[in-house]
Amino acid sequence: ILEDRPSNPAAGDHDRPIGHGRMQRKEDPRFVRGKGHYVDDIVLPGMLHGAILRAPVAHARLVSIDTTAALAHPGVHAVITGTDLQALGLAWAPTLSMDVQAVLVTDKVRFQGQEVAFVVADDRYAARDALELIQVEYDVLPPVVDARKAMDPGAPVIRDDLEGRTDNHIFDWEAGNKAETDAVFASADVVVKQEIVYPRVHPAPMETCGAVADFDPIDGRLILYETTQAPHAHRTLFAMVSGIPEHKIRVVSPDIGGGFGNKVGIYPGYILAVVGSIVTGKPVKWVEDRSENLMSTSFARDYIMQGEIAATRDGKILALRTNVLADHGAFNATAQPTKYPAGFFHIFTGSYDLAAAHCTVTGVYTNKAPGGVAYACSFRVTEAVYLVERMVDILARKLEMDPAELRLKNFIKKEQFPYPNKTGWEYDSGDYEPTMRLSMKMAGYDELRREQKEKRERGELMGIGISFFTETVGAGPRKDMDILGLGMADGAELRIHPTGKAVVRISVQSQGQGHETTFAQIVAEEIGIPPEDIDVVHGDTDQTPFGLGTYGSRSTPVSGAAVALVARKVREKARFIAAAMLETRPEDLEWEKGRWFVKGDPSVGKTMAEIAMGAHGTVALPEGIDGNLDAEVTYDPPNLTFPFGAYICVVDIDPGTGHVKVRRFIAVDDCGTRINPMIIEGQIHGGLTDGVGMALMEIIEFDAEGNCLGGSLMDYLIPTAMEVPDWETGFTVTPSPHHPIGAKGVGESATVGSPPAVVNAVVDALAPFGVVHMDMPCTPSRVWEAMQGRTRPP
Ligand code: CDP
Repeated sequence: ILEDRPSNPAAGDHDRPIGHGRMQRKEDPRFVRGKGHYVDDIVLPGMLHGAILRAPVAHARLVSIDTTAALAHPGVHAVITGTDLQALGLAWAPTLSMDVQAVLVTDKVRFQGQEVAFVVADDRYAARDALELIQVEYDVLPPVVDARKAMDPGAPVIRDDLEGRTDNHIFDWEAGNKAETDAVFASADVVVKQEIVYPRVHPAPMETCGAVADFDPIDGRLILYETTQAPHAHRTLFAMVSGIPEHKIRVVSPDIGGGFGNKVGIYPGYILAVVGSIVTGKPVKWVEDRSENLMSTSFARDYIMQGEIAATRDGKILALRTNVLADHGAFNATAQPTKYPAGFFHIFTGSYDLAAAHCTVTGVYTNKAPGGVAYACSFRVTEAVYLVERMVDILARKLEMDPAELRLKNFIKKEQFPYPNKTGWEYDSGDYEPTMRLSMKMAGYDELRREQKEKRERGELMGIGISFFTETVGAGPRKDMDILGLGMADGAELRIHPTGKAVVRISVQSQGQGHETTFAQIVAEEIGIPPEDIDVVHGDTDQTPFGLGTYGSRSTPVSGAAVALVARKVREKARFIAAAMLETRPEDLEWEKGRWFVKGDPSVGKTMAEIAMGAHGTVALPEGIDGNLDAEVTYDPPNLTFPFGAYICVVDIDPGTGHVKVRRFIAVDDCGTRINPMIIEGQIHGGLTDGVGMALMEIIEFDAEGNCLGGSLMDYLIPTAMEVPDWETGFTVTPSPHHPIGAKGVGESATVGSPPAVVNAVVDALAPFGVVHMDMPCTPSRVWEAMQGRTRPP
């Protein structure tokens, strides 16, 4: 257990995490020794290997496939095509957005990298070699690459598989009040507009996606080891698609090497591994390579946003409105709650108290990989925060106001919480000004502005960027939120063994966030057993209660609450058992951490370990109390939690090359009650690195023919330690009023909040050139073009 101290002295002395605070991660001994156990580490007797043939073009009719030579290749056991799947009724699978996606192409290729055939062989090499022997004839069609042209009359119709489809339109969605917002805009002193593009990026986890399917034809059982963030939801969907009864399917998600939303969806590769196992009667492993991951699994963002902000001349922000064009690729496979086709984008009013707001979102198909996942964010909150935080900066420039001052003037006030915003959210709690002021104090904001002024006089390019974000994390409640009809709630089970050691079983699944530590800490806090004595079991549907899984920073808000409540339930049961053991009445007992004792006589009591033994022993238990010391709950959250933060980024730009260097980054986060500050800082460091990557380097572009230009880590650049500064983190604590321990989510805050801080800093540095906006990523060539007064054509 490390010393419980704030990471930055300037943050002040309000670090009061629960219980064991900065406890070192229980999972690290295996990770730092290279003993993690990932899907690709699984080796089963007789296991075969699968490889996928992928389409080289973005849009084409499939004329013919000849698999004869591939089948004859040594070591090959099966070559599966779309026609084979059609016969099994498995050629198409439902997506998480109620669309369908081809598992293997039957009629038409719809994006470059789409799955065309599956080879199963003795090893990966034979499988890959056989792919090259499959002869495919394509009739190439013109692709739709630009979402802006997807709805043009005469644009090629991508989804002609859908009956009656004559265009590429998916949905129109809106939130807020249009008439009210238009009226506020019509009478405002100042209105500014800006088109803002959040480009297509990829979660790019270190471990790519993969599965090992083991179907036993004798008893009809399927064990599927899978890189998934949501094992229970996957099991239900596999049962619905395959016809294998759900109780005969076990999904195991072992250690996961990063998810970031990439491992929420069900990819054709997972289904093909299952089909391969059924066809060959052997276990089949499929693990994609890096290019397959970048080209075909879920992308993120790809929003073209028309932003407008209205204000008074003295800087009172009145209203926001936006129209968004959302590029969903070839299949609508976005992962978000059913009622919200644009996810939680309608939190785009941010941290400000507005008179009105309105947004519309139109989704379209293009010949690009499907997805639209919540990449390290809660369902499009990243796009929302980027829009509002860029618009506020653009307004500050127009009004010639300091961007920090403009934000401070417009924040929702502490006394306004719970705050109903104009698009239907109720923010649970917040106190924004102290958080903003702390970040400014840590940054030395006034001094930075003085330094910038001096540097500008010398022609040096220094920029200071601010972002203040509010997130909405922890989806449900189940009455409002579901994925494919499965309500967003989570279960927890807690069992104390006779010797006082415990096991807590949860339905969420860690991908590196340290749940084995923090969930044990929550139980330890509630029942007083040391966290070392509490095992956290997750990632196996045979071993854990049903729940919707880990994404959108929902583990702590939802499952963390479930764990606190199940521990309280066990504590209450322990009271009755202790009373029986002490031959007194339950109401005469009082709790202190770890033990029930007789009111007024603290020397007479029973510890949790003694009570656990008593529960399994021979003492006569009261009516209604069965033996054992255990409980289970399903937690349906009453609302989401609304963490927030203030970020300040300082950049220097080389005027000769346009290279942006992030010199400093100050991040003050408020995620309510903190469980493990060390883990929180780790989450923030990772998220900030992600954010710098998106702001400066990451983009998946396509050429006019629909070729993916970001299909390798030579082209899709992700940040390393070289690109990031020493992070300066601080925090404030505003507990959630409805969460049992007051915790809000934090896993994705930094990815959400940091891109606008970096871009605002870059644009600030370029102010002497008259630049008011530039689209991400701010690569040296784009910055240089902006300095020349040029922007890229859309
Ligand atoms: O769902 P996900 O685990 O990605 O996100 P999260 O619930 O925000 O949690 C990320 C990690 O930070 C977990 O280990 C949490 O338990 C921990 N955390 C914390 O220590 N205190 C909080 N208030 C929130 C999260």
